[in-house]
Amino acid sequence: MSLLVRNLDLFDPLDAAIGEQETMEAQLAVLHEHIAECRLCPLHAGRRQVVPGEGDASSGLMIVGEGPGENEDLQGRPFVGKAGELLDRILEAAEIPRETVFITNIVKCRATETVDGKLQNRAPLAPEVNACRPSLVRQVEIIQPKVILCLGAPAGRGVIDKGFNISEQRGQWFEGPYGSMMMATFHPAFILRRGGAGSGARELKKLVWEDIKRVRERLASG
Ligand code: URA
Repeated sequence: MSLLVRNLDLFDPLDAAIGEQETMEAQLAVLHEHIAECRLCPLHAGRRQVVPGEGDASSGLMIVGEGPGENEDLQGRPFVGKAGELLDRILEAAEIPRETVFITNIVKCRATETVDGKLQNRAPLAPEVNACRPSLVRQVEIIQPKVILCLGAPAGRGVIDKGFNISEQRGQWFEGPYGSMMMATFHPAFILRRGGAGSGARELKKLVWEDIKRVRERLASG
């Protein structure tokens, strides 16, 4: 089960340009320049910056979130707001330095809606995720991570299976492309939204911690 299948033209000029590069960093740079110009879905119209992703191009671990929020849209970097701070703390606790990971999202531009006159983040729609998937497929092709960790239900549904159910299927391993294994766990923003004592945030954190430990074990295994 994986939605990260290559369904792209084998003679696409972008693939030819990527293929000419000698290092994974250079391949990613070519891909990210292309993503910066993308206008394949309506999200491009509202973006301040594209957020292609960042990190170690030869990482064993790719983390895939839902999409850029306000801070990410401003800075052009993934997971730099409150959810990013919690993600950093989770990675630190697991002794997985952030700079050793590649972090990206199922869509590379911020998805918003206006509620009561205020611009808010929203989950990306299926056509937006579908339009953006070839970029993620190419990132996976270049990096070929051992583990793909999806954060939250939209990422699970965009990467693992359209019917992915986070409550029932988080923490389970699924076969991914290039011999990778994929898992989804709760999104840090979901934990933060739960709030303080008695809210269930503690239980969610425990489950995320169990999941991240299993990710660490798999990364350490041969
Ligand atoms: N939430 C996400 O899913 N991705 C980001 O990059 C930031 C917050």
